[in-house]
Amino acid sequence: MSIYKDTERLEEAITELKQSGKSIGLVPTMGALHKGHVSLVKKALRQNDLVVVSIFVNPTQFNNKNDLKKYPRTLEKDAELLRQLSDVILVFAPTADDIYDSNIKSIKFDFDGLEHEMEGEFRPGHFNGVGTIVKRLLEIVSPDRAYFGEKDFQQLQIIKKLVAKFKIPVKIIGCTIKREPDGLAMSSRNTRLKPEFREAAPFIYKTLKAAKKKFGTKSANEVVKWVNKQFAKHPILKLEYFTIVDTIALKPVKRKSNKKTYRAFIAVYADDVRLIDNIALN
Ligand code: PAJ
Repeated sequence: MSIYKDTERLEEAITELKQSGKSIGLVPTMGALHKGHVSLVKKALRQNDLVVVSIFVNPTQFNNKNDLKKYPRTLEKDAELLRQLSDVILVFAPTADDIYDSNIKSIKFDFDGLEHEMEGEFRPGHFNGVGTIVKRLLEIVSPDRAYFGEKDFQQLQIIKKLVAKFKIPVKIIGCTIKREPDGLAMSSRNTRLKPEFREAAPFIYKTLKAAKKKFGTKSANEVVKWVNKQFAKHPILKLEYFTIVDTIALKPVKRKSNKKTYRAFIAVYADDVRLIDNIALN
C-alpha cells in the first residue's frame, strides 16, 4: 500500500497503471474509517485490480464550522487499517490547497432538484461541495468504478446525476448500509457521541424499522406524524426531519403508487452530533 499526498504524483502512478491495463476502483472518504467504509473498499477490491481510497475532509461540503473543526482526523490509523486489508490499495490524502488549487470554493451545480430535498434543505451548499470534490476526484483518478454507500442515499443519487450530466465515464456502485450490532448506522461521527447519547442513538433505526412496518398499512402522512410523535416524547434525541420520498426524484410521497419505490430518511441531533439514516420501505 502506498500513500500519495500530492495530486501530480498520484496521477503519474495511475497513468502507468492504466497503461499496463489495470482496472481501478475509487472509494472516496473523509477518513476516520469504520466497517462501513471497509465494506466499500472490500467490494472495490473484488471488482478491480487496484483500489484508490481517498481520505480528505472536504471543507466546502461543511455548512457548519464546528462540525468541520470537530470532524475526526485519524490518517495514520486509517492508513494502517488499509495496509492490513490489501497491498493493492493506493491511499490518496491530499491537502485542501492541492486539491482546490488554493481556491477553496465549490462549483454551483444543477442536479435537477435532487439537491434541494432533505440534506440539501438543512445543509445549504452541502451538495455543491460534495459535487465539486467528487468531480475533482473522478478527474484525478479516472476510475472504472466508484463506490458510494446507501448510508448517504441522497448523495449516491446526486453522484449518479453528476456522472450522467457531465458524461463522466465511470460506473457508480451503491453499497448497503453497515450497522453496529444495536442497529446504529456506522458513521465517523459516532465516535463523538457522549455515552448517554451513544446509548440512545439506536432509537433512530428502531423507529425507522417501525415506520417501515406501519407504511405497509398506513399513509405516508400518518407515518410521518407517528415518527414526529415518538421523537417529541424522546428525552434527549432531537428530530431534525423525517420524510418519506420516492427513490428517483426524492420528493415527498403524496399518494402511494405500487409502481414506485419509497424510502424513509431521518436526521437527528444527539447533542451537537448530527446523525442521518434511511431505510427502504418497499
Ligand atoms: P464519508 O462520510 O467518509 O463516507 C464515505 C463513503 O462511505 C460514502 O459513500 C458513505 O455513504 C459510505 N458510508 C459511510 N458510512 C457507511 C455505512 N455505515 N455503511 C455503508 N457505507 C457507508 O460521504 C462522504 O464521506 C463524503 O461526502 C465524500 C463522498 C467522501 C465526499 O467528500
